[in-house]
Amino acid sequence: NTFVIIMAGGVGSRFWPFSRTSYPKQFHDVLGTGRSLLQQTADRFEGVCPPENIYIVSSEEYKTLISEQLPFLKEEQILLEPHRRNTAPCIAYACYKIAAMNPDANIVVAPADHIILKEGVFRNTIKVALAATHQQDILITLGIQPTRPDTGYGYIQYIPDKLTVKKVKTFTEKPQHELAVQFIESGDFVWNAGIFIWNVNSFKKALQEFQPEIAEIFEEGIPYYYKTAEQQFIQRAYQHCGSISIDNGIMEKAENVHVVLSSFGWSDLGTWKSLYELSEKDSLNNVVDGQALLFNTTNSIIKTPKDKLVVVNGLDGFIVAEYDGVLLVCKKDDEQKVKEFVSEAKRLN
Ligand code: GDD
Ligand code: MG
Repeated sequence: NTFVIIMAGGVGSRFWPFSRTSYPKQFHDVLGTGRSLLQQTADRFEGVCPPENIYIVSSEEYKTLISEQLPFLKEEQILLEPHRRNTAPCIAYACYKIAAMNPDANIVVAPADHIILKEGVFRNTIKVALAATHQQDILITLGIQPTRPDTGYGYIQYIPDKLTVKKVKTFTEKPQHELAVQFIESGDFVWNAGIFIWNVNSFKKALQEFQPEIAEIFEEGIPYYYKTAEQQFIQRAYQHCGSISIDNGIMEKAENVHVVLSSFGWSDLGTWKSLYELSEKDSLNNVVDGQALLFNTTNSIIKTPKDKLVVVNGLDGFIVAEYDGVLLVCKKDDEQKVKEFVSEAKRLN
C-alpha cells in the first residue's frame, strides 16, 4: 500500500529564463541525460511502488506534457489543479484522493525537480522511512548535510541520538540570511530535502490540527469515481483553499516531525547556483553550456543557445543565461531575486 505523489505544478521562477510558465524546468532535460526532471523523478521510484500507484499533481495546462512524458500514467493518476495554491493543498488533494481508495496508504511525497545521483541509496532511505511510518504516527522528512547558508531551504534541527529516524526539535522554512549563517555555524542543522514520508492517517491528522480550513474542504470526500464530479469538486475546493506551503503550514508546526539523514547525491535544481554547483567547472571555476569565449572571467555560469557566440569579459560570480528570447545577466549571489525580475518582466511584456 505504498503510493508516490509527485508535485509538478511549480513554475520554477528562480530558474528563469530557462524555466518558463509555458514550459517549467521539471519538463526540461536539464542535464542532457535524455530524461526530463519529471521523468527521472518517476524512474527513481521503480521498485518502491508499482507504476499505477504514482500520482502527479500539476496544473491543467501541463496535462498533455505530463502524459507525453510519462505514457504509463492512466488519466486518474494525473491530478489537475485549477489554480496554484502552493504545496499544502496540492498534497492534501492527492492524499485525500488516495485515502478514499486506500484508507491505510503509506505515502511518499516528492518534488519533480530534484537531482539524485545515488538512486540505490535513495530507495533504501525511502524504504527505511516507509517502514517507520507504517508503524508510527509520525511525519518524516529527509535531511541533507548543508554546504552553505542558503536561504532557499528549510532548516531542521534534530535530537542527535543514534536512531535512524530522529526526532526533530525545530523546523525553520527559508530563514533570513543571518539566521541561516547561525544555523550553519552551530552545526546542528540539516536542510530539508522537501521529500516527505507518512501514513495518510498521520497526514490527515496533522492537516486537521494545523490547517483545519483546508482539511474541512477535503474531508467532505472527493467524488473520485466520476471524473466530472471530481473536477467540479476540485474547482470549488480550490476557490476556497488558501495558498500555503506544506513547510510553513504543517512541518514548522507539528510536534511529531522526524528526520532521516541522507546522502544520496541530492540537489534541488531550484536556482542557477544549484545548477552551477552540480556542473563540471573549467580551471577558472566557470560552467559553460553554449558557445562562449571567456576573458578574465571566473566563478560564473554561462548557459546560452548553441547557435550564438557569446563573448564575456571581466565577470566574476555571474549568471549569463539566454533562453527563448530572454537574456538574463545577474550576480550569482543575487539569484533569489530572479523571482522578482520575472514579475517585473511579465509586467513589461
Ligand atoms: N502541484 C503543485 N501545485 N505543485 C507545486 C505547487 C503547486 O501549487 N507549488 C510548488 N509545487 C511543486 C514544485 O514544482 C516543486 O516540485 C515542489 O512542489 C516544491 O516547491 P518549490 O517551490 O520548489 O519549493 P522550494 O524549493 O522553494 O522549497 C521546498 O523544497 C526545498 C528543497 O528543495 C521546501 O520543502 C524547503 O523546505 C526545502 O528545503
Ligand atoms: Mg524547489
